[in-house]
Amino acid sequence: MNEFVHYRVENNLALIALNRPPVNALGQGLREALQQALERAAGDTNVAAIILYGSPFSAGADISEFGTSASHAQPSLPYVLNYLTSLSKPTLAAIEGLALGGGLELALACGYRIAAPGARLGLPEINLGLLPGAGGTQRLPRLVGAEAALEFILHGVPLKAERAVALGIVERVAHRVESLLDEACAYAEELISSGAPAQPKAPFEEPEKGLSTDFFTDYLQRHAQRWKGRQAPQRVVAAVQAACELPLEQGLQREAELFVEAEASAESAALRHVFFAEREAGRVPGVTAETQLRTVNKVAVIGAGTMGGGIAMNFANAGIAVTLLEQKGEALDRGLTQIRKNYEISVQRGKLTADQLEQRMALLSGTLDYADLADADLVIEAVFENLQIKQQVFRTLDEVCKPGAILASNTSTLDVDAIAAVTRRPQDVIGLHFFSPANVMRLLEVVRARETSPEVLATTLKLARKIGKIAVVSGVCFGFIGNRMFEPYGREAYRLLLEGASPTQIDQALTEHGLAMGMLAVQDLAGIDIGYLIRESRRQYIAHDPSYCKLGDALYAEGRFGQKTKAGIYRYEGRERVEDPHVIELAKRLAAELGIERRKISDQEIVERCLFSLINEGIQLLDEGIALRSSDIDLVFLNGYGFPAWRGGPMHEAEQMGLDNLLAVINYYRQALGAYGEMWFKPAPMLQRLVDAGKQRIEKI
Ligand code: 3HC
Ligand code: NAI
Repeated sequence: MNEFVHYRVENNLALIALNRPPVNALGQGLREALQQALERAAGDTNVAAIILYGSPFSAGADISEFGTSASHAQPSLPYVLNYLTSLSKPTLAAIEGLALGGGLELALACGYRIAAPGARLGLPEINLGLLPGAGGTQRLPRLVGAEAALEFILHGVPLKAERAVALGIVERVAHRVESLLDEACAYAEELISSGAPAQPKAPFEEPEKGLSTDFFTDYLQRHAQRWKGRQAPQRVVAAVQAACELPLEQGLQREAELFVEAEASAESAALRHVFFAEREAGRVPGVTAETQLRTVNKVAVIGAGTMGGGIAMNFANAGIAVTLLEQKGEALDRGLTQIRKNYEISVQRGKLTADQLEQRMALLSGTLDYADLADADLVIEAVFENLQIKQQVFRTLDEVCKPGAILASNTSTLDVDAIAAVTRRPQDVIGLHFFSPANVMRLLEVVRARETSPEVLATTLKLARKIGKIAVVSGVCFGFIGNRMFEPYGREAYRLLLEGASPTQIDQALTEHGLAMGMLAVQDLAGIDIGYLIRESRRQYIAHDPSYCKLGDALYAEGRFGQKTKAGIYRYEGRERVEDPHVIELAKRLAAELGIERRKISDQEIVERCLFSLINEGIQLLDEGIALRSSDIDLVFLNGYGFPAWRGGPMHEAEQMGLDNLLAVINYYRQALGAYGEMWFKPAPMLQRLVDAGKQRIEKI
């Protein structure tokens, strides 16, 4: 037995502690140690029952083993769990903290389960493009019924122990976390003295009972649209169906086959990439475990508009007091009223109680006076996107804020160095770029300015976690990571309109690829006017291309600002978006004026031109050191721009297709699109270097 398991016998009980910090991931070493411990307990005549425990119990299979030979190295998890179910002595899982994936399957293979209060139990494999592969799809339906099991597995979100009891996943919840093991021992003694079987009879021996004959076919049909492009949910359904139609042993066999397929799928590779990308994003040069953190108990937000209100809600949701500052009383009232309305919608949807609404509102206060910001630990500015206005705000903050307060700007495009420079404390200034709606979107771009101190960076990264955001660090440049890469993506969508594609074709090609929204619908949502104003500030960089977002400029001139004026690239009839022949005519006219020949354009060309322009810019950003790593860029697009997680993000997609292929396609458009191609389809120099060096991964070289 190796150090991954601690084994001891107390009275007549074998106590097997899993000991592989931090989360008892069931890697090969732990599986081996567990198998040996089980065999030892089975063979010890002094042992009448076996208790498995761990702190936390276990987060499941070791995700880093997937796709490697270690994943199925013996003893495999299914093997260990089958052995566990074959023992003649009662087995009991004492679940502390969490039992996820294979960790919960380990508990399900035990005859009995007791959980600590607050412990979380779940089968989140679906989030990794997998299905439970160690008996979960077969044993859970027999424990709670097929439909409940299916929902639980497809949902992928852990339940608290108390709810898990109600569902029938665990039998008992301990009184206290600290007494879990004692209570587990007492439970085991009860089982021994009552002569309880090692494995009790399954409550749902026929898990399909009560289901209609077409249940699984209907289920697949009902979800077909939502699961488009994915395969893991369908595999889960197939596995649970097998639990209903086959004896346990054959069902386990079917599950194993489906798991092997899932593990080898591009979808799972993408989602595993996302899992590790999220953990990697927190590692930032210059920030270590020793970096001092500042305390943030009081937050202030300047500007109670669209962004300021949403930003404030994030902190109130996390129990942190927020002061909102505005210039005028009406604007402040409007902002606070809007926040209340947003919370009221959550109450109506049952996501918040009326008491919680009041508690959150009580954490929010408004002011017109900067003096009220004197004791704020963090101030986030969200006023109009204008450098002079923002600089004026920061000058004032420099006057009134206490030493050590963190001064942040929510600017989406402006130079954070230029904002920091007007203060006497540029080391305390940082960009915190929230995405709209700020209380919903998970992404937070943390913009590290030239002089931002490691303490300020580390504090905001920790705070981001506390308010449930995925923080990605960016350097200073126009648009930071996301908006800078989004610009060429938008440019191509506009240009394709001139070349002959219709708005619907462009957006559909992108949504078919998996994007939540097409680029042109996004333009209408964000505001044709906003896009125009951004271009106005950047004419010097785009003037050499007379076709550059020309249609957007023309729509702006017509006052078609998008959804808010009920007309933009599309027309809006109520909530419905409809194509407008006027826009097609406009595109034809502009194309004629610019000498652009219109032609039939394939969906493939649309996706390649939009996406590859974005990826090319991403490679350039990496080269410039604006993004720290390619996986950070993926997180930006998955969490801020509606890219599908099951594709892993644009950079991961590029790696999957092969960098040499990417380079070849970019070079193809460079040549095929003539002068326009020459202007915009130059491969990023680092892409060429990566291909020359034979690299498969996008990394700085
Ligand atoms: N395998 C390998 N490493 C894991 C892991 C796992 N299942 N779960 C967590 N880790 C690692 C993380 O990578 C991280 O490592 P790092 O410090 O080197 O970056 C460390 O453990 C701590 O994790 P977090 O930073 O995420 O810590 P949190 O406390 O925020 O979250 C958690 C802990 C809730 C366990 C979260 O990590 C999580 O959700 N893990 C994944 C759980 C999961 O999906 N389990 C199913 C696996 S698939 C499976 O079991 C297949 C089976 O059916 C056969
Ligand atoms: P908004 O116009 O809805 O709100 C701005 C608010 O700031 C208004 O309520 C205004 O009264 C107030 N304000 C203006 N000058 C002020 C001052 N000197 N002192 C105090 N309050 C002042 O604008 P929005 O959309 O909230 O944008 C704010 C910032 O957030 C901008 O920098 C914008 O670029 C950025 N941003 C906007 C996103 C969006 O989708 N709307 C997304 C991400 C960032």
